[in-house]
Amino acid sequence: MRIDILTLFPAMFLGPLQESILKRAQQRGLLTVLIHQLRDYAFDRHQMTDDIPYGGGEGMVMKPEPVFRAVTSILDRDDKATVILMTPQGRTFTQQTAKDLAQKPRLFFVCGHYGGFDERIRNLATDELSIGDYVLTGGELAAMVVIDAVARWVPGVLGALESAQQDSYAQGLLEGPQYTHPASFRGDAVPEVLLSGNHARIARWRREQALKRTFLRRPDLLATVDLSPEDQAYLAHLKQTLKESQDL
Ligand code: 6GU
Repeated sequence: MRIDILTLFPAMFLGPLQESILKRAQQRGLLTVLIHQLRDYAFDRHQMTDDIPYGGGEGMVMKPEPVFRAVTSILDRDDKATVILMTPQGRTFTQQTAKDLAQKPRLFFVCGHYGGFDERIRNLATDELSIGDYVLTGGELAAMVVIDAVARWVPGVLGALESAQQDSYAQGLLEGPQYTHPASFRGDAVPEVLLSGNHARIARWRREQALKRTFLRRPDLLATVDLSPEDQAYLAHLKQTLKESQDL
């Protein structure tokens, strides 16, 4: 996969791209990331990339010419790139969007800073994404979040063990409790079932703990998950138990 990023602050991307899994993916040639300085495409004397809003008001607005010049000169006419505008007004990024974008050969992120984009910049974009309902100082950190989540779905980026983990836990439930050594820590013991060696019992326990944690913390997620009759029976039992403890 090839990723281009257009930004006024290229250095914001360097740390995250030079560590861990994203670093390894680039070294293996699975991922190529090119970062472009927007100011290099601003040709007026002061290399202005933003300007005051028509009609008056606070804040600056990102000018269209440098963004158009950058995108059209970086992408060849027949490059099939998905151009993504990072903005709090975009549709909310989800794991499903990450999987969908991982199918694309080439992504181009346009990061705004300060005020907002001149409306005509929207004509360049295939998609507009936000990472959640809060306001960041710019689109850079949001683009980095999207790139990280997408890269994990590019074949080969995760090692075999990491992807197995992803398969078992990316099924829409929160992960249940996990434990490692020691078996007892400050009087707090690892649940007996995990030491039992009974793999079927362990798998069932893990599934139930994931259901429980999801029910308690993110009940909205349960609506999107395929629940077996066993899962449904467990959840009914859990709700009954919680209700009884409230009634006490
Ligand atoms: Cl993409 N940009 C900004 N500035 N703030 C955000 C965002 C993007 N997503 C969530 N908050």
